[in-house]
Amino acid sequence: MGSVTVQVPAHAKLNLSLRVLYKRLDGFHELRTVFQTIALHDSLDIEYARARTTKVELDSNVEIPNNLVVRAADAVLAELGVKAKVRFRLKKRIPLGGGLAGGSTDAAAVLLALPVLAGRPIAPERLAELAASLGSDVPFFLTGGAALGLGRGEELYALPAVPDVPVLLGCPGVPVSTPEAFRALGRRPVTELTSPGDHPRMKEFQLLVEGVVCPRSAGDWMAFCENDFEAAVFPLYPQLAVLRQSLIERGARLARMSGSGSTLFGLFRSEAARDRAARQLAKDHPNVEWIPTRFIDRDRYRASWRRALGVSRSSARATSGRGDRGFGWIA
Ligand code: C5P
Repeated sequence: MGSVTVQVPAHAKLNLSLRVLYKRLDGFHELRTVFQTIALHDSLDIEYARARTTKVELDSNVEIPNNLVVRAADAVLAELGVKAKVRFRLKKRIPLGGGLAGGSTDAAAVLLALPVLAGRPIAPERLAELAASLGSDVPFFLTGGAALGLGRGEELYALPAVPDVPVLLGCPGVPVSTPEAFRALGRRPVTELTSPGDHPRMKEFQLLVEGVVCPRSAGDWMAFCENDFEAAVFPLYPQLAVLRQSLIERGARLARMSGSGSTLFGLFRSEAARDRAARQLAKDHPNVEWIPTRFIDRDRYRASWRRALGVSRSSARATSGRGDRGFGWIA
């Protein structure tokens, strides 16, 4: 049977702000976050052919334990009831354990691409369920851009595009375990909706969202960006606090850790200011990988997906007649 090959992008995300409220009864933590996709991406080559028996193979330039790519492929094929030979070649550029959701975006890339390659859409609600079953950050990458994340991070509300800001990532190569970072926060389980300690966090988060949705002046929302993990992770890895301070001293308007770390990001007024800082920081901290990048809004994110999959906007919107909505995620 003939095979088809595509190369798709799997963009990284930043948490512009990340508030951790309390530990829920299901053991997960209740979050308030603003996600933003960035240009930095992994590349995934996918070769797909219908077959009598299913075989999923993965080559990667980096050894990744428990790779979500294969689990995502198994989930899609089972959902579609299709048998296929699928071969993935993953070129990883997003640092592992860096708080940029590299594993989650690779998994989402498989969820977006495989139904198109199989010519069989999965209803958006179902795709979101599959994504959430693979990991809390996976659903965000079905749409990308800027989004508000609540719950485990899987309850998503699209935000208007945040004006493009030059970004500098500082990747110290210290992998931080997400479950350990959550434990280090020491949040107590609560049974009420909020605890008194949550109120300042929620208030600041509301001001941030208001600033993103109705900005009074460019970038005023940055004043309300916080990452609650910094208080728990910086004492374990003091060099991360030093890097954050260095980004500020080299001119970043805002410097924060992304996710549970260890990547730090700085937002700059201009590309020139960002590139100047990158040169200085490379001298100050030569063991850190400094990566210049930028925000990718939802329109650009979806356009890059349509290009990669050779899908037009109208065919992405088309219904298949079975009550689902085509490949509407990327329309
Ligand atoms: O959902 P995901 O597999 O990415 O989560 C990894 C781990 O991080 C979970 O097992 C849990 O320990 C922790 N986590 C959490 N609260 C969240 C998201 C993740 O406690 N909202």
